[in-house]
Amino acid sequence: MKPVRLAIVGATGLVGRTTLDVLAEWQIPLRALRLFASDESAGRMMTWNGRSYALEPLASVPLDVDAAILATSRKISQQWAPRFREAGVIVIDHSSAFRMDTDVPLIIPEVNGRALNGHTNLIANPNCSASVVVLPLAALNREFQLRAIVVDTYQSVSGSGQDAVAELDAQLADSQSPAKIYPRPIAHNVFPQVGPFDVRGLCDEEQKVVDELRKILECPQLSIFTTTVRVPVRVGHSAAVTVECMKAVSRADVETAFRNMPGMIYEADTYKTPREIAGKQEVFVSRLRVNESDPRWLQFWAVGDNLRKGAASNAVQILMELFRD
Ligand SMILES: NC(=O)c1ccc[n+]([C@@H]2O[C@H](COP(=O)([O-])OP(=O)(O)OC[C@H]3O[C@@H](n4cnc5c(N)ncnc54)[C@H](OP(=O)(O)O)[C@@H]3O)[C@@H](O)[C@H]2O)c1
Repeated sequence: MKPVRLAIVGATGLVGRTTLDVLAEWQIPLRALRLFASDESAGRMMTWNGRSYALEPLASVPLDVDAAILATSRKISQQWAPRFREAGVIVIDHSSAFRMDTDVPLIIPEVNGRALNGHTNLIANPNCSASVVVLPLAALNREFQLRAIVVDTYQSVSGSGQDAVAELDAQLADSQSPAKIYPRPIAHNVFPQVGPFDVRGLCDEEQKVVDELRKILECPQLSIFTTTVRVPVRVGHSAAVTVECMKAVSRADVETAFRNMPGMIYEADTYKTPREIAGKQEVFVSRLRVNESDPRWLQFWAVGDNLRKGAASNAVQILMELFRD
């Protein structure tokens, strides 16, 4: 990979800090690194790879970088991504602001990395729930063609940022601690709502999963049903997935398709939980069941680290593709 001059906006947040970990672990060659956060954090120091960096406020586009990873709110991305883009800085954006724009590739490198060709300086990183299920779904789509899918998610609180993790911790310490980020108390609880509801009764996350899976899989008509559920887990999103393929499948053929898919690990005899995979890059797939009475239907369990494949490491993979030697 060619050495890159990189900016990270939101460097102090969960995704920003995980990005710094991944950059160091994968020994990504950086010629320069600039770290941005809110005005409140500006001036504080962060250490990366043994060097100290002063956190900067985002006052103007840094013109001395080649690329920027935006790991902050949708509102800030809406405000700043177009300015970076116009200044010739390639943006990899973690927010939902531009994911469905037709001129913005929404990339999982193992699935649709070729969609980076001809990018116009703005690339979107997918939603963390879509990222956890899209690898096994892409494997099935390549071999058997998908007809319909049902995705039920079990989403950790780190998916909502550092304040949500603090809210879970506060409620675990004191059951009277109020819900501020979430619509209900999250400690010792689950609720079938991730984001606000629309007039049809879908919550924001459910619509994102539908839209983004269709875009990444390049299946605009695919029938997708989803229920997104928040659970009191710190890190790691899980999903129970039911799939109807266009043709009957055998367990052996599905296992081969799963084993051939890069970025995921298929396990036939056990299953993984969020606690076990936090900090890992791969998506783990298990509990495969092919319906005996109608073998076009199958089910599986998928779990992945929302901060890694769901965010930071997928963005670093995109960066590696963009600056490939
Ligand atoms: N968490 C996940 O699993 C996940 C997965 C996929 C996508 N995403 C998306 O990634 C983005 C970041 O999520 P997160 O979980 O890392 O959130 P977070 O933990 O709440 O971090 C937010 C970051 O934004 C910074 N920030 C706030 N106001 C700013 C400003 N005016 N200028 C510059 N930086 C500012 C914060 O800096 P301070 O510390 O100074 O406040 C912090 O570094 C969101 O769009 C989210 O939807 C998250």
